[in-house]
Amino acid sequence: MSRVLSLSRSSWTGTDAEAARSATASLERGAVLFFPHLPFVVNQDEDEIFSPAILSSSKNTSFDPATGRVGGTTLEGPSLDRLRTLLTRFSDAAQGLVREVLPGYGPHMQRARASFRPAQIAGRHSSWRKDDSRLHVDAFPASPVQGRRILRVFANVNPAGAPRAWRVGGEFLDVARRFEPSLKLPFPGSALVLAALRVTKSRRTPYDALMLQLHDRMKEDAAFQASTEQESFDFPSGSTWMTFTDQVGHAAMAGQYQLEQTFLLPVKAMKDETASPLRVLERLKGRPLV
Ligand code: SIN
Ligand code: FE
Repeated sequence: MSRVLSLSRSSWTGTDAEAARSATASLERGAVLFFPHLPFVVNQDEDEIFSPAILSSSKNTSFDPATGRVGGTTLEGPSLDRLRTLLTRFSDAAQGLVREVLPGYGPHMQRARASFRPAQIAGRHSSWRKDDSRLHVDAFPASPVQGRRILRVFANVNPAGAPRAWRVGGEFLDVARRFEPSLKLPFPGSALVLAALRVTKSRRTPYDALMLQLHDRMKEDAAFQASTEQESFDFPSGSTWMTFTDQVGHAAMAGQYQLEQTFLLPVKAMKDETASPLRVLERLKGRPLV
């Protein structure tokens, strides 16, 4: 059975309480909620932003909805304002959508960064650790989540109609079990050192340390990449999807022009915490991790 659950919603606003209950339960069990009829509409005057030439050194432009700051781009003046306007509109739409689709999370859902990804994925060269065409779960080296869930909303806005081609992995529990023996608890005190050196913006908990290792172990293991349970899925241009990317293995194989908004959710706000990476790793390690 596919992990990608197709939903009929065609509007960014509007509540359906019945659909919301089952959507939340499916999402927490590791589904990708896929909205094939929910396009994010780009305006005509935003055309000039649709080029990889707007990127500075990084592979994405980033947006902080709290401050309005846009990073990762060479754009200036009115062009930069246009990119900021696009990202603001998407960020607000994504926030509205998760409130409607996942109403039980309510005010616990924290809005983090958004990004616009204008680079072609296929054939892009990077180190194995940064190579998102390898199956992985998300973990942030500089911004510890301290046990919170990572929920991401994606919209494929490719103007030429090209899909975003993903591979989607299997059960988090199976992946965690496979790599658990090689996931080492950090030395006591190491979190303080990393924070003091400003490697991390806040304390890297044992949970964050284990998730970073899991991200790396998955990406560097060629046998795992080739043989683990997985499915290929093409998200069409004009579609939207969301998933817990800390739980659901994913790899982006091809595609260009995508919007993404990240949300952080305390596990306490979930309907059922037991399938969360935090609780799974705590069971496997036999100790609290935050
Ligand atoms: C990722 O989160 O690993 C990449 C997803 C994408 O850009 O499609
Ligand atoms: Fe990722």
